Amino acid sequence: MTNMDFQGHVLVVNLTFYFYLLFLFFHSPLQTNASSSSSSTKLIESVCKNTIDNANCLKALESDPRAVKASRLKDLAKIALELAVANATESKAYIDALLTKNHTEPIKQCSFWFEAVVGSFRSALRELDEDVLSANYDSKIAGDDADSCENALALGKVQIPSISTRNNYAKLYSSIAFEITNLL
Ligand SMILES: *[C@@H]1O[C@H](CO)[C@@H](O)[C@H](O)[C@H]1NC(C)=O
Ligand SMILES: *[C@@H]1O[C@H](CO)[C@@H](O)[C@H](O)[C@H]1NC(C)=O
Repeated sequence: MTNMDFQGHVLVVNLTFYFYLLFLFFHSPLQTNASSSSSSTKLIESVCKNTIDNANCLKALESDPRAVKASRLKDLAKIALELAVANATESKAYIDALLTKNHTEPIKQCSFWFEAVVGSFRSALRELDEDVLSANYDSKIAGDDADSCENALALGKVQIPSISTRNNYAKLYSSIAFEITNLL
């Protein structure tokens, strides 16, 4: 074999190997997973299109591997409410830290209202198994609680964009949880 022939031979062997790998991939259980996850991505899409913010709903749910794998609405509801509780808990901690540095009425009220946001999401999560109607109601109330914080800022004539952003997160998760529990 000349050197060129040898290289050609190596190339053919390599290509054959890669085609074999491709063949394995497309006939492997991985592929089945890919198609089942695309059907649950459809579940996420069908939920998100009815929320207040389709793009951010998709971002929030598709960034969670459990949500992407979920094929039942009930499972997706649980995951969404867990994300909601975690997100609102972080917001409450953020607002409380702000409050220790700046003890003013609007921030104090927002701390109160975020306690309520977390409480409403927690109640909804608990109610998911026994009382879907209450879970749906409490998912909605969490968003109203965030509105109350936003109103407290407006009444105090202050703008605190970092808090308003977190009100929008809470309203997004409220809308997501409301839409999913509405379908249960
Ligand atoms: C809260 O949710 C928003 C919207 O999904 C996201 O952008 C943000 O990173 C989340 N924050 C935390 C701490 O999880
Ligand atoms: C404290 O919060 C108020 C709004 O409640 C704001 O107007 C003020 O600028 C803040 N002060 C400091 C030092 O951040």
